[in-house]
Amino acid sequence: MDFTAELQRQAARVERGLDQYLPPADTRPERLHTAMRYSLQAGGKRLRPVLVLAAADLGPGAPAKRADPLPAAVAFECLHTYSLIHDDLPCMDNDDLRRGRPTAHRQFDEATALLAGDALLTHAFALLAEHYAGQPALAHALLRELAEAAGSRRLIGGQMADLLAERQDAATAADLEFIHLQKTAALLEAALVCGGLVGGADAATVATLRRAGRALGLAFQIIDDVLDATADSATLGKTAGKDARAGKATFVKLHGLDASRRFAAQASATARAALRELPGDPGFLVALCDAMAARSH
Ligand code: IPE
Ligand code: IPE
Ligand code: MG
Ligand code: MG
Ligand code: MG
Repeated sequence: MDFTAELQRQAARVERGLDQYLPPADTRPERLHTAMRYSLQAGGKRLRPVLVLAAADLGPGAPAKRADPLPAAVAFECLHTYSLIHDDLPCMDNDDLRRGRPTAHRQFDEATALLAGDALLTHAFALLAEHYAGQPALAHALLRELAEAAGSRRLIGGQMADLLAERQDAATAADLEFIHLQKTAALLEAALVCGGLVGGADAATVATLRRAGRALGLAFQIIDDVLDATADSATLGKTAGKDARAGKATFVKLHGLDASRRFAAQASATARAALRELPGDPGFLVALCDAMAARSH
């Protein structure tokens, strides 16, 4: 398998899906729909939707007989992009740069950014409800999985804990692991699980996908912390060095760079081992896990 070509193929599929499944920019009110597309189509690595597609491809049976994973993949990118728009708001991380462009509240205004985020969050659930309506048990499982991952115990809870830990020297290693598992790993885990569900995976396979996603997500956020401290804004497409200035609780702050890199490598190895247990051909997912561990942005 040519990993780079396959990643490009899957990412291109996602780009087409985003255009297809988002309301057109000229939908009234145009300012809102333009802002939604502005943040969503600014680029981004599209890792969550690609994880959905790749996990779905593992499924048993002929691809033609499986449900189409593309609407679910787009739903994950919508939800992720909402979380970025809100994460960047002045009342949260107060960032000016995202995906190499001005953040939504800089390009438009705060109220428009808030509403564009709200709309993308809502649209994610609408996509799942609409496109899997013909398979009610699948629709229910997807909706429940995404709601759990995005809710107050997981993504939003992690964001709250992240803000509460700012400028606090009392945050422990366990607190920090909680933050990373919730604010970031929850959605990566759910992407793999939902891909599996669309592909018709059995319960044991879903459990393996969940275990892999948790470790993959933990590694991903530790690497995000390391890149914030070591890379430049042009490479990242977002402001570098922001965590230290904001007094964020990060792996780099708590454990230092070397130990952080080791923790990330360990979590990545755990994810890789779990992915290798998957039925079918998990080669692409294993290679994606390696690429995510070696990423520069
Ligand atoms: C950024 O996610 C936010 C985190 C959870 C670390 P990504 O690094 O996947 O951002 P994009 O989608 O490529 O812009
Ligand atoms: C973001 O974590 C997590 C979510 C958006 C849910 P960060 O605040 O570290 O992400 P970046 O560095 O701004 O992308
Ligand atoms: Mg943040
Ligand atoms: Mg941030
Ligand atoms: Mg960060």
